[in-house]
Amino acid sequence: MTVTAVIGSQWGDEGKGKAVDFLAEQADYVARFNGGNNAGHTVINEFGTFKIHLVPSGIFARNTTALIGGGVVIDPAVLIEEIETLNQAGVGVDGRLWVSPRSHVIMPYHKILDGLYEEAKGAGATGTTRRGIGPVFADKVSYNGIRWSDFASDAFEKRLKVQLELKNKIITALGGEALKYEEVRETYRGYYEKLKPYIKELFPIVQAGLKANKHFLLEQAMGTFLDTDWGTYPFVTASTTIPSAASAGLGIPPRYITDVVGVTKAYTTRVGAGPMPTEIHDTNSKAYGKFGEVAATTGRIRRVGWLDLELVRTAVELSGVTELCLTKLDVLSGLEEIQVCVNYKLDGKAVRYAEVDAYGLERVECVYQTVSGWSEDISGARSFEELPAQAQNYVKMIELAAGVPVRWIGVGPQREATIRKRN
Ligand code: GDP
Ligand code: IMO
Ligand code: MG
Repeated sequence: MTVTAVIGSQWGDEGKGKAVDFLAEQADYVARFNGGNNAGHTVINEFGTFKIHLVPSGIFARNTTALIGGGVVIDPAVLIEEIETLNQAGVGVDGRLWVSPRSHVIMPYHKILDGLYEEAKGAGATGTTRRGIGPVFADKVSYNGIRWSDFASDAFEKRLKVQLELKNKIITALGGEALKYEEVRETYRGYYEKLKPYIKELFPIVQAGLKANKHFLLEQAMGTFLDTDWGTYPFVTASTTIPSAASAGLGIPPRYITDVVGVTKAYTTRVGAGPMPTEIHDTNSKAYGKFGEVAATTGRIRRVGWLDLELVRTAVELSGVTELCLTKLDVLSGLEEIQVCVNYKLDGKAVRYAEVDAYGLERVECVYQTVSGWSEDISGARSFEELPAQAQNYVKMIELAAGVPVRWIGVGPQREATIRKRN
């Protein structure tokens, strides 16, 4: 049995969707365990191009059973649309996608409050996706949440009434418009009717899979440094993103996790506010132009920077990463020189990521190493040996710093644009 967690080792958008789509060929179960539809995972394969927010990216492999764990928060309108899109594309999700009744439901007031809180914070805002993520997780841990299981009885109506009384007071005090009970109830009862065929307790499914030595692929959302505890708080997301979250979020005991794949972009990106030591501010620079990306969920322009090995090293240590999947190496082609941050310094002294908070991280200086780039287009390479020597050296440098092997190298966004590296 292998239970493989696939996690991003930076600030999200490392290419987890592509990695999971690629790795799912070998999987029996593919599962999401944290976050919600703040995630945007891009998959490009024979079915088309998809930006997936909730359904596990391994759904495209025909033999997989896809699970959305209790640790995930769900905007039903987004999930319904995603299921329809996937079915229309011929992926066939019915009968093999199961949603935990323990998962919490994102209500309209969560999205409104997310926006109002951000506006109230002004310049100190987190830069959230405004999908209601912070407020729905706050309700979960303060016992105010609504779960799919509540819809099986009148618990939903009872809980909604109380919540609207509370939430409407806050919303109107902050200048928003009160929500109407009947409207929300009708809309959400309608969503439930559509999602009911997919809602099923995952415990027996997961237990049976573990006992039968099946292969599980666990797909993290967000990245290591957006983790509520270990990220750059308060510029983080509201859920745990390190592999231990898979345990609570799916009911898989921690000792069953056998492998942790750390998906690492060959440079760094970040969406939203918060420190980013290697950020490139010169918008006219060649690297800025090459690294530019548009966020899969919000369409915002991602902040970009050089590869930060202190982040990758910390992620490997924190999450017990066993192997790396390096993505977007092709994007570096054409840069004469590449900067890599190998260490941090604060007030002239070496400092580790975990020794400073977000405000300290704003002040750290990066110790850069300059390495030679390559001019060749590497998007057609399918073996490590086909890569130019400078690209091979870049990969080896990452392995050395991280202390674990790079097992896969992405040289393009499509599933097949992947090198399997023998070590
Ligand atoms: P995720 O949230 O970690 O799944 O990542 P996103 O999908 O938000 O962002 C990753 C972006 O990089 C997407 O546009 C992918 O299509 C793209 N991508 C992933 N791997 C590669 C790669 O190896 N090369 C290139 N050029 N693009 C890639
Ligand atoms: P994937 O899974 C990148 C960021 C937001 C914001 C912070 C809090 O595609 O890698 P939230 O809406 O979660 O309350 O926002 O977290 N963020 C992400 N950044 N990729 C993501 O997901 C993200 N999910 C949340 O930009 O800074
Ligand atoms: Mg993304």
